[in-house]
Amino acid sequence: MADVFEVLGRDHTEVKRMLDELEAGPTAATGASENALERRRTLLQKLITAESMHEAVEEEYFWPTVREHVPDGDALADHAIVQEQSGKQELDDLIAVHPLQDRFEGLLSDFIAGAREHIDFEEEQVWPRLRGVITAEQATGLGGRLQAAKRLAPTRPHSNTPPKPGLLKATAPVVGVADRMLDRMTGRDRG
Ligand SMILES: [Fe+2]
Ligand SMILES: [Fe+2]
Repeated sequence: MADVFEVLGRDHTEVKRMLDELEAGPTAATGASENALERRRTLLQKLITAESMHEAVEEEYFWPTVREHVPDGDALADHAIVQEQSGKQELDDLIAVHPLQDRFEGLLSDFIAGAREHIDFEEEQVWPRLRGVITAEQATGLGGRLQAAKRLAPTRPHSNTPPKPGLLKATAPVVGVADRMLDRMTGRDRG
């Protein structure tokens, strides 16, 4: 069974691949066709789904574990959650903008830079410290909880929801179901 680092690492790899692809373009300014812009929009929606689910389950299960076990865990979690909230706000802003609009590429490159910084912070600053203080069984148990929570996790950023683990655990499955209904109605799940 996959441990917490494998579960989160797979998500990071997938997100980084999408960030690279979005960064490579083409964009409206570099002469992208209408079809290419539509593909760009679809890829952004996939990225938003992946990011929303990933950060939601981290906030429900990963950061509370870091706070509990890692010396200075509170400071690490606080810093990461500020990064996550700012990323969610940027994604909420991006949802409302079309790739043809002037603001789109600026918002997107801000998000890409912040997302890479956040992933590096987690992998380089947080994971080694957590690895050093939890057992293999705890790491596998946490990986299982993250995978289970992802099945019903929100697929949209919800930047206005406070990132409180208890609140998120209580509301995430309900919000996750509502998000999926909306994804089906808008065809986003077929992107
Ligand atoms: Fe995160
Ligand atoms: Fe992460």
